[in-house]
This record gives sequence, structure tokens and C-alpha cells, in this order.
Amino acid sequence: MGLLLPCLLLFSVSTLTAGVDFQQGSKPLGQSLFQRRSYIEEKAAKIVKRSLPAWLGASQNHRIKRRSAEQGDTCKALQGHETKLEGNTHRYSFNDLSGSVSLAWVGDGTGVILALTTFQMPFFMLKFGQSKLYRSENYGKSFQDVTELINSTFIRSEFGIAIGPENSGKVILTAEVSGGLSSRIFVSDDFGKTFTHQELPFIPMMQITYNPYNSNVLLVLSNSNELWLSEDFGSNWKKLHDMVCLVKWGRTNTIFFTASLNGSCSDRGMLELRRTTDYGKTIKTVANKVYSFGLGGRFLFASVMTGKGTLRMIYVSVNQGETWNMAQLPPVGHEQFYSILAANDEMVFMHVDEPGDTGFGTIYVSDDRGTVYSKSLEHHLFTTTGGDTDFTNVTSLRGVFITSILAEDNSVQSVVSFDQGGEWVPLRQPSNSKCDATAKDPDKCSLHIHAAYSTAMRLNVPMLPLSEPNAVGLILAHGSVGDAISVMKPDVYVSDDGGYSWIKALDGPHHYAILDSGGLLVAVEHSPTQPIDKIKFSTDEGQCWGVYTFTKEPLYFTGLASEPGARSMNVSIWGYRDSILSQYWISITIDFRDLLTRDCDDQDYVQWLAHSDDISDPNDGCMLGYKERFLRLRKDSVCWNGRDYEVNTQPSPCPCTLDDFLCDFGYYRKENSSECVEQPDLKGKVLEFCLHGKEEQLQTSGYRKIPGDKCEGGRMPERKEIDLSQRCVSDLIGPELTVDNRSSKSVPIVITVIIIMLLSVVAGVIFVKKYVCGGRFLVHRYSVLQQHVEENAAEGMDDPLETNHTQNGKIEFHDDSDEDLLE
Ligand SMILES: *[C@@H]1O[C@H](CO)[C@@H](O)[C@H](O)[C@H]1NC(C)=O
Ligand SMILES: *[C@@H]1O[C@H](CO)[C@@H](O)[C@H](O)[C@H]1NC(C)=O
Ligand SMILES: *[C@@H]1O[C@H](CO)[C@@H](O)[C@H](O)[C@H]1NC(C)=O
Ligand SMILES: *[C@@H]1O[C@H](CO)[C@@H](O)[C@H](O)[C@H]1NC(C)=O
Ligand SMILES: *[C@@H]1O[C@H](CO)[C@@H](O)[C@H](O)[C@H]1NC(C)=O
Repeated sequence: MGLLLPCLLLFSVSTLTAGVDFQQGSKPLGQSLFQRRSYIEEKAAKIVKRSLPAWLGASQNHRIKRRSAEQGDTCKALQGHETKLEGNTHRYSFNDLSGSVSLAWVGDGTGVILALTTFQMPFFMLKFGQSKLYRSENYGKSFQDVTELINSTFIRSEFGIAIGPENSGKVILTAEVSGGLSSRIFVSDDFGKTFTHQELPFIPMMQITYNPYNSNVLLVLSNSNELWLSEDFGSNWKKLHDMVCLVKWGRTNTIFFTASLNGSCSDRGMLELRRTTDYGKTIKTVANKVYSFGLGGRFLFASVMTGKGTLRMIYVSVNQGETWNMAQLPPVGHEQFYSILAANDEMVFMHVDEPGDTGFGTIYVSDDRGTVYSKSLEHHLFTTTGGDTDFTNVTSLRGVFITSILAEDNSVQSVVSFDQGGEWVPLRQPSNSKCDATAKDPDKCSLHIHAAYSTAMRLNVPMLPLSEPNAVGLILAHGSVGDAISVMKPDVYVSDDGGYSWIKALDGPHHYAILDSGGLLVAVEHSPTQPIDKIKFSTDEGQCWGVYTFTKEPLYFTGLASEPGARSMNVSIWGYRDSILSQYWISITIDFRDLLTRDCDDQDYVQWLAHSDDISDPNDGCMLGYKERFLRLRKDSVCWNGRDYEVNTQPSPCPCTLDDFLCDFGYYRKENSSECVEQPDLKGKVLEFCLHGKEEQLQTSGYRKIPGDKCEGGRMPERKEIDLSQRCVSDLIGPELTVDNRSSKSVPIVITVIIIMLLSVVAGVIFVKKYVCGGRFLVHRYSVLQQHVEENAAEGMDDPLETNHTQNGKIEFHDDSDEDLLE
């Protein structure tokens, strides 16, 4: 083994926060998508009008002024940083040649990081591997080699390090022993200080998942589709069920899973959706003829065969599967899919794939019951096999979402919504950049954001868009300025107002991180082939950047790592050095605390009204029925928000208008009108919704408040309720969504368990990969890595409803990857 010098090179750092539905399949849309395109056409982004933010064309002077007025001072404020930072730069070299490193933060604010390196090499038909474990207690400034805790056992790095929810201090490492014929876990409940090991009576197929409400309870699927559970943090395991296809933790100790009764998980559409609330003592079937299911917010979704050919429909439950309602969404056929793009307790964004291999579909937004949907965006890019979507929830400002459409000329263009999907518009051109060659009119173009799709297309985009709830209004993203996304080298753009206005912040691709709740940004140029020695930092939300040379000997950079949650002031630069005889990992941690010499006080904050265009308008800043003023750090203040910084917001309600309401089932809006009028063709139409809708859902006045809208007073629709059920006639035999109450026989108690992984908000895992020998496969590994990341994130709210379309006979995504490099 020692003969092979690791030859190297690529890494990627992925945080698990960016969950998008990741499915493998052929890419019908190749690179040709990125071409010269005309200006975004209205048609391409058709809109359901709910409200009309006037920002397009409206002057945004106050925002722009805020920037320019403060610019000069900030740059001066950073003078003399070199000496302050030099004393706070900590280097640690790992005496380790391993091919990959995974990092995990254990707990919130504990400073504990585990670094797991794995060396694996193929040897004839077998694989040999060895892992080393390092632990830091000071945010990565130094590490201790604690490999003896795992006795050098080969840890399955594709499962990563499973960190328990909240501040439980729990860690699980899944090991492969006897050449992959059996499995062992190493568990710790003291933040990785000590580990005990346990043989598993099965081989896991996925990462072990924690019950988010009780970190002692673990769940996992075995590679033969058995569902295993442990109630004592991995000591004893019992098998709950055979032939389980998909499993997810619901709320309060509930487990949902689909099971195949007679055979195989490829028998889609014949699965039973089951639920247990007592860890398998009783198991209840809550739906059958199920194709797949998903959870989002308080909603449980199941796609169920309609009984008519291969069509299936979405059913929604808000009581854990006790009762179901049919969602008013179009049914889809075998080759199509549904995907939950984002969901919270109030509403869901659902993507419905278009028939045929188009690579796009339609986004619908739900009402508060999850049953009535409004069309939000057509031509939404989402590769047909469910591969990739750019859909991004901008977590730094309420109501903002960014995604891409596939325009009629096949170009990819970015659009943004500031009102939770009500209207989508192109992103404004950054004030300090010019349209590129994709623009027909050199003065008229918009900003396009690179997200998951560009990454999947292997463009030079090292990071997805970044926003954090505690860094109000801030977004960092790679992008290009033109009529459509360009394949040329992207630059880094920053918005400080939730996506309304942008500036170009850095030339070329970078890794970036938000520290101190937005008070400090750091970035390192992405250059896999050139060693680097500099880190850039900004205390004014990206307008002015200082540069610090953190080392005299440049290193090959692989990724930035900082504690998830964006409150830290410590950031680690990971990379390796290459000398003639050896390569070794190195981590350089910089503590920026001394750069910001003082704590922020009241004078350092200014009031900022979110979503504001024109302060003279009394409705200015109203979004979903209320406006929010935030206290934000002044750009020219160089001070420390601190770990305990809380976002300070003062919400105030706005008067209602008709635009605060959506049209209920059976009603629609005429073009350019806010009024909901009765749909004339309801009568006599085959409407399954009528047939299956619950009585209370058919009692309507035609209007329904938009989910999350908190308007008060003003114009409320006055119309008396009518009973729609008398108006709709249907002769359709609906799908048999039977709800039977039979509980399963008690399940024999065996010892063991199986997997899926949950991440708490504060614990995050970062993988840094370097490859062993060969160079040619770098990119493929990236995709594999990404895939695991998505699987791990799969318990989150961005779940695809349907995760696996490869059975449809589609070609695997990385057909030319790994396997051949390991031959
Ligand atoms: C570590 O592994 C070696 C070799 O596989 C074995 O002999 C030894 O007992 C193990 N030690 C522990 C503490 O598990
Ligand atoms: C499963 O059972 C159904 C009927 O219950 C049958 O139509 C189907 O062919 C069976 N599938 C397999 C894989 O045995
Ligand atoms: C978007 O993110 C914010 C902040 O994390 C969250 O509060 C909101 O519920 C998310 N929206 C959806 C629809 O998932
Ligand atoms: C940075 O790391 C030091 C320990 O080395 C720790 O005391 C400090 O709290 C960290 N700073 C932040 C803001 O997390
Ligand atoms: C709706 O408004 C747009 C723009 O104001 C206008 O071009 C269009 O003709 C209007 N449609 C109707 C049906 O009035």
C-alpha cells in the first residue's frame, strides 16, 4: 500500500445545508444550454399575479447611497491588519497521506472538531482501507491524533460522521470490517472524547439517523432493505420490518416508511406507507398503492396511483396520515416526478415535472392546508430525471427565493421572487458590472446565479449561493451578467438587501464564508492547480476586501471550514503541501477576533426596512402582510457582533388588500385583476377534488389568506360562503386511498438497526476530499460526494418526494466515473 504515493488533487467542500433533490440520470440538457440568449422573455417566466412589487424600474437610491457613502472609510479601517492577524494564525500539519478528510463540528460553540482521514486503495478485487481520527478542542487551531480510539479501523467515509441533534455530543462512525463483510460502529456521547464500539448485525445502506427528538434512538436501513432501530444509542438493535424502501423520521418519535409487500422496491406504485409512533410495537398502514412519500413542515405527502394506467397523484395529510386530502395538482405519469422544493409549517413549494424529456416543470405554491395550489413559475429548470434544480431559499430575508428557468431558446436564466413565489422577475444587473457577450443589448441584461445545476454541469463553481438567517439581507453567490447564465469563469456577487441589488465583489471563483453573523466575510480564491497563500476578508458586506498572506509557503487549497451557523470568528483553510517525497494535510486556522478590536454598541447599528423601495409610500416594505425593521450593523463599523448576537426585528402589520389572498379552489383571477371569480367550467367537469375534498374545504368564499400573511384590517373580501360540493359533478372512480387500521403483528425483537442521517442546525459536516492517484477522475468523485451529501440531507425539508428514478432505465449519471478509476 505504501508504494502508491497519493497523487492527488481535487477537493470539494460541501456543507450539508444546501439540500436539493439529487437524482441520477441522463442529462438531457447538456452544456449546450449555456449559449447566447436573448433577454428574458415574459413568456418564459409566466407569473401568477398576487402582488406587484414595484422594484423593477423603481429607484433604489437610498440603498445604493448607503453603500457608496460609507465606502471610503471602511477600507482605511482595515489598515495594519497584518500584525493583528499574524499573531492569530495557527498552523497544524497532519502527518498523514490519506486521500480524503471529513470534518465535523460537534456541538454548538464547543470548538470541538473531528477530522477523519481515510486512505483506501483497490488491491485486485478487494479494497483495503485505513482511517485516522483527529480531534480539536479549539476551533481547529490544533489537533490531537486520537486514532487509537478507533483502532485504525476503516471508517466508511461516504457515510461521514453522524453528529447527534442539538448539543447531545453524540457521534457515530460507521466502520467496515472483514473486507466489507460486516459492520461496526464507534459511538461517543462525550463530544468525541471517548468511543465505544459495537458490532452491527447487518450492513448499513445509508448513514445512521438520529431521532431528532431523542438522540438515543437510531434508525437505519440495511443493504437488504431491513429497517433496524436502536433505543439505546446503538448497543442493542431490533429489526422492525423487511423490504423497506424509504424511511423518514416524522414529528415526535414518529417513523414513516414505505414497504413492499411481496418483493422489491422497484415495484413502485404498489408500496404501503406505514407509520409507527412507538418504535415498532404497533405499525399502522396509512396509505397504499403508494409510489413514494415526502415530509415537509407539518405536511405529509404521498404520491398514490390513481388506478388509471400509470398516473399518480399527490395526497396530503396534516395529521400524520390519519386522514388524507387530494392535492389539487396535475397527476403525473411514470416518467415524470414531483419534488418538494421547500416547505415549512405554513406552505410548500412543489415542482411538478412536465411530460416528456423537457428538463423543466412548473412550481406550484400551496395554501395553508397543502391542498389548493397556485401556479407560481413555469419552465422551471429541473432535469427530467430529477437531477438538479437551482431552487434556493434565501434564508437571510423572509419571502425571497432564487431559481432558474429554461427559456424557450434553451438558455438557463435566473429569476428571483421576493414574495414567496407570487411573482418571479430577473435579477437586477449589478451596478458595477457590464453585460457579457450573452447579451443582445449591451446595456440591458440581468444577473444570473450559478447554483446546483451549474455544479452538476461541472462548471468552475466551487460553492452554491450562501445566506444565513442571522446575517440579515446578505447573499453571496457566483454568477454572470448577461441574458443567460454563461459558461465562462464566474465572479462572486454580493447582495446586502436580500437580492434586490447586487454588486460584483470578487473576480473569479472563490470559496467564501460568513463569520460573526455577517460582520465579517472571508474568501479564498479557488485554484486547484496553483498553490495559494492569501485570504481575503471584508467587514463591510463585500464592498472592500483586505488581503492577508497567511503563510510563506503556499499550499494547495482544498476548502474553507468554519463552524456552521456563521457566528464564529475562526476560519480554517484546508489544503495540502506537496514535496518531492511526500504530501501531507495542513490546516491553517485564523482567529479574526483581534481584527475587530471592540464589541459593537448601539451606535454601530442602523435601522433598515426590509423589502423597501420607496419610504414615502405607507405600504412600502409590506411583504406577506407585514413589514420588518431590522437593526443592522453599519457598513463602516469595524466591530464584533459576538456569538450571542440576536437578529433584532420589529414587525408591524400592514392593511390587507386583495393581493393578500389567493383564490380558493374553484376560483381564479382574470388577467390584471385581483378579484377571484368563480371558474365557469367547474360544473359538470370531472373533478376528483370535488369528489374527495372534505366538506369544509368546499365551503368557500373564493378567497383564502396567503400562507404566512399577517395583514390586518384594510380591504377584506366580503363574500358569503357557498358550498361548492353541490356544484361539482363527478363520475370518476377515485383512487383507492384506503386507510386501514390494521396494526401489524408485533415485530420480533432482534438486535440491530439501520440508517439515515439527520443534522441538527448547529452541527454540520464538511467533507474535504483529495484523491489518490490519477487526476483524471477528479470531477467524478465530486459528483459522488455530492450525492452522499444530498442523501444525508434527505431528511430535511427539501426532500424530493421521489428519490430514485434510475429504475426507469435511465443512464446513470457518472457512468464514466469511479468504477473505472478503481479497476
Ligand atoms: C485493534 O486491532 C488489532 C488488530 O486488528 C487487535 O489485535 C486489537 O485487539 C484491537 N484493539 C482494540 C482495543 O480493539
Ligand atoms: C406483487 O403482488 C402483486 C399483486 O398482489 C402482483 O401483481 C405483482 O406481480 C407482485 N410482484 C412481485 C414482484 O411479485
Ligand atoms: C426558508 O428559510 C427560512 C429561514 O431558514 C425559513 O424560516 C422558511 O420557513 C423557509 N421557507 C420555506 C418555504 O421552506
Ligand atoms: C475562536 O477560537 C477560540 C479558541 O481558540 C475560542 O475561544 C473563541 O471563542 C473562538 N471565537 C469564536 C467567535 O467562536
Ligand atoms: C394586462 O396588463 C398588461 C400590462 O399592463 C397589458 O399589456 C395587458 O394587455 C393587460 N391585459 C388585459 C387583459 O387587460
